[in-house]
Amino acid sequence: MSIQDVAGSEALTYFAFTAPGNPRQADRPARSAQPLPDVLSGRYRIERLLGVGGMGAVYRGCDLLRKQLGDPHPYVALKTLSESFLDYADAHALLHSEFALTSRLHHSHVIRLFGFEIDPVSERPFIIMELLTGCTLDDLLLRYPQGLPWLKARDLSLALLLALRYIHSQGVIHGDIKPSNLMLGNQGIRLFDFGLGHAKENSLAGLPQLSRERFAAWTPRYAAPEVFNGSPLSTATDLYSAACVIYELCHGQPPYPQVDTKQVEAISAQPTRPSDMPQRVWKVLKQGLALDPGKRLQTVDALLSAVEAQSRLAALTSWLNRSGRN
Ligand SMILES: Nc1ncnc2c1ncn2[C@@H]1O[C@H](COP(=O)(O)OP(=O)(O)O)[C@@H](O)[C@H]1O
Ligand SMILES: [Mg+2]
Repeated sequence: MSIQDVAGSEALTYFAFTAPGNPRQADRPARSAQPLPDVLSGRYRIERLLGVGGMGAVYRGCDLLRKQLGDPHPYVALKTLSESFLDYADAHALLHSEFALTSRLHHSHVIRLFGFEIDPVSERPFIIMELLTGCTLDDLLLRYPQGLPWLKARDLSLALLLALRYIHSQGVIHGDIKPSNLMLGNQGIRLFDFGLGHAKENSLAGLPQLSRERFAAWTPRYAAPEVFNGSPLSTATDLYSAACVIYELCHGQPPYPQVDTKQVEAISAQPTRPSDMPQRVWKVLKQGLALDPGKRLQTVDALLSAVEAQSRLAALTSWLNRSGRN
């Protein structure tokens, strides 16, 4: 396996292609020759870079057609593949698979996609999607190095777990849950970047099938340990990553900060309860953080119930306080 380290940090995604020798198919020309044009497909003007991930870059764009027709908010986000990915035979299919998968999902905490195109001049594939405003949770964590107050962390956790329960109910595994793939802004909280996602067989009919044997990727800080050993992604691997995110939101640090979970044997210290996290939530979160997949919760349900119960309790308490004052 040739490992392409496109990230270089344990919070970024690592991609591994099983490609002996040249990753490019012998009968296909290189596609990276053309620079990114200013206007994609004659319609989407690139305005500025919004963010870069392991696989590509996302730009703020203006839909010139909508603008011409008088739409007061013709702005979109455009996701393209990074140059280094364009050479891989599966690259276009990879971005299209992200589009095909995500565009079948409809939930208030999941990103909305509008379209997929290939720019005819540069031959670059790109996704057109809703423009998210606000900040990613990793940026938010920079402002709260000791962790967010529980009530804020609780609301973010609830949104993440609701999104996860929904996508799992559709047979979809996200595969790369981490703070930089969640955005908090005017639109509320959205889970995005389904680039490593996949649908279980017999769910979401008509999706393109990518060979996962040729391609594997993970983010060391958030990936469940069994993923490093080649186990398939599952609801339990997504749950592990979500539990890591929730822990970090509350504590400011990941649950296993010293080493990445690839070195499970080296991990002796167990994470301790973030100080203001309710015991009932911690009891369940701990089971989501189990390094041994045999001892881990398999679905998000129990953790979602525990967090939801806290939310309802808080709403009830605040109602009681208000009615007591009246
Ligand atoms: N729809 C969007 N609106 C605004 N910013 C976005 C949007 N999608 C992604 N971004 C920004 O771009 C970064 C990389 O996008 P992402 O889809 O995660 O790419 P990758 O698959 O390369 O990780 C994100 O962390 C975020 O900062
Ligand atoms: Mg990402």
